[in-house]
Amino acid sequence: MAGQPPRKILVTSALPYANGSLHLGHLLEQVQTDIWVRFQKSRGHDCTYVCADDAHGTAIMLTAEKLGISAEEQIDRVKQEHERDSAGFLIGFDNFHTTHSEENRQWCERIYGRLRDNGHIATREITQAYDPEKNLFLSDRFIKGSCPRCKTPGQYGDNCEACGATYSPLELIDPVSALSGARPVEKASTHFFFRLPEFQSLLERWLDSDTLQSQVANKLREWLQAGLQEWDISRDAPYFGFEIPGEPGKYFYVWLDAPIGYIASFQNYCERTGHPFEPYWERGHDTELYHFIGKDIVNFHGLFWPAMLDSAGLRAPTSIFVHGFLTVNGTKMSKSRGTFINARTYLDHLDPEYLRYYFAAKLNASVDDIDLNLDDFVQRVNSDVVGKVVNIASRCAGFLRKGFDNTLAPDCAGHEQVQAFIDAGEEIAALYEAREFNKAIREIVALADRANQYIDERKPWVLAKEPGNEKAVHDACSVGINLFRVLMTYLKPVLPAMAEKAETFLNVSLDWTELQGPLVGHRLNKFKPLLTRVDPERVEAMIEASREAAPASAQEASAQEETVQDDTIGFDDFARVDLRVAEIVAAEHVEGADKLLRLTLSLGDGQAQRQVFAGIKAAYAPQDLVGRLTVVVANLAPRKMRFGVSEGMVLAAGPGGEDIFLLQPDPGARPGMQVK
Ligand code: MSP
Ligand code: ZN
Repeated sequence: MAGQPPRKILVTSALPYANGSLHLGHLLEQVQTDIWVRFQKSRGHDCTYVCADDAHGTAIMLTAEKLGISAEEQIDRVKQEHERDSAGFLIGFDNFHTTHSEENRQWCERIYGRLRDNGHIATREITQAYDPEKNLFLSDRFIKGSCPRCKTPGQYGDNCEACGATYSPLELIDPVSALSGARPVEKASTHFFFRLPEFQSLLERWLDSDTLQSQVANKLREWLQAGLQEWDISRDAPYFGFEIPGEPGKYFYVWLDAPIGYIASFQNYCERTGHPFEPYWERGHDTELYHFIGKDIVNFHGLFWPAMLDSAGLRAPTSIFVHGFLTVNGTKMSKSRGTFINARTYLDHLDPEYLRYYFAAKLNASVDDIDLNLDDFVQRVNSDVVGKVVNIASRCAGFLRKGFDNTLAPDCAGHEQVQAFIDAGEEIAALYEAREFNKAIREIVALADRANQYIDERKPWVLAKEPGNEKAVHDACSVGINLFRVLMTYLKPVLPAMAEKAETFLNVSLDWTELQGPLVGHRLNKFKPLLTRVDPERVEAMIEASREAAPASAQEASAQEETVQDDTIGFDDFARVDLRVAEIVAAEHVEGADKLLRLTLSLGDGQAQRQVFAGIKAAYAPQDLVGRLTVVVANLAPRKMRFGVSEGMVLAAGPGGEDIFLLQPDPGARPGMQVK
């Protein structure tokens, strides 16, 4: 590190839509990016982090209309909210702009002009569904009707949730506009296309260049192999966006101007601060450019964006860092379960650094989803951060203040120990650099264990009771504080507010570049509590508040829609459950089991009998069950239980105990019949 010139790095997070509140999924991305950026800064690099709101598109226009405000007013409100919430999580954007800005308009026009002059724009007429009352072309999700295949009503214009069929909205039976209820008509209009297929070989080279995560490159290769299509980059008025120069009534599609927003936000930053701009976007400079994004938007960043940049004569990203999705307690975030947690709801209840630490402890360089398990969250933060790291300082601070005028020992008796911690820094730095934050945290916590052990072995609290041990106490506590200082330096990218408090206490700045050796004869400031334990009741209260949060505004209604889908399963999922009529041919108590009966089921002649355990002992005497018909899930994977293997599950209603009612088909049903 020493002697190398600082790197010049530009980093972005994906631009959140200005159509709703930030939730913990957005924060997973911003925290990941922010930790990486803070790490680079701590290493002495020139690293700039920009973002913006993604302010254009039909959805935002319609939201504003519903709220009775202008689109501009809507995006201003949301921008304020987004900035406030990101700041609440200590996200240190150097600039947070909007895509609805003059800089962005100019860059869109410039880039589009270059694409057009290079022959990379095609125009042709296409026919689309049109709402004759709203005078609006309708994207697939704004059209509803009955599925042309299975006839299920209420399906969206692109695919059927019941049977999985895909089709064009014009094929729906009795289609209606979700906006007005009017029957859509077909209407032709001219659209502008970006000629993506021309970039096939450029993109192949880009995917083979080893700059992307292999999971991402493989996914993108599938797209290339399937054959690239020309990309429709225009939308007809009315549309909230930028008009295409020279093409009245035609607008740039939001996904064209959104990534250009990265350039525009950075330009806005440079103009504000005097930071150099061109070397980051022109070709042939030693600058680095990274985009942090979620796995749902890799096609835009991994294919369309590099192709656009190439045609426009601009540099390609150095890399794109893709993360997985956030799940809570093992499943997709859900309003009804109270796990669709808005950034603001979290901040109303809990300290942002708890979550930053937990995310860091889970994040790695893969595209796998990250689970926020709330029990694990409480346990992890309390045990690692409060129980181990903070503990080092709080155990030593009192002795130093009472006996030694709050000053560290004039020489460092445990110098080797402190040096060993400093030496461990290069490996930790390499893990941060590679976005293997979970491994970095593991190393840091292992060091914290060693530091606590060091103090445990020396027992200053015992020594301090006997006279003549002053030097030993002073040395042990001084080493403890020095070890704490090194650890807090390593944790500062993750825990910036706690690090700031530690800086005040330690009376030094905690930067990686400052770690040259132990602090000796150094005066400390008064120790103040650094972080309190997570209170599980606050977590409960947050879940409750998330569950109760009724959609207060149209903004939240879109998030609400997502969750309606959360708790439903598709027809395909349902169809996979093989329900059969079964006859109970034998039933018996299970020795040692309080609730279970062992049932032997017949699923018809010629079918092997099945053994199933059912928790219905309190409700039924075995002899009453023999000969009865019921319904069984026949394709449930066999489960090994304490008393044997259960090969299916019988269906019963009720809360349990004596209050349970076995399902029974009407007379006439025969064992083995499929239940549909
Ligand atoms: N506006 C586009 C991005 C344009 S970038 C030029 C967009 N916005 S978004 O608000 O839907 O998402 C912003 C970022 O948050 C994306 O990277 C997305 O992957 C990420 N996440 C949204 N929900 C998420 C989770 N549940 N978990 C993790 N990240 C998620 O896409
Ligand atoms: Zn269907």
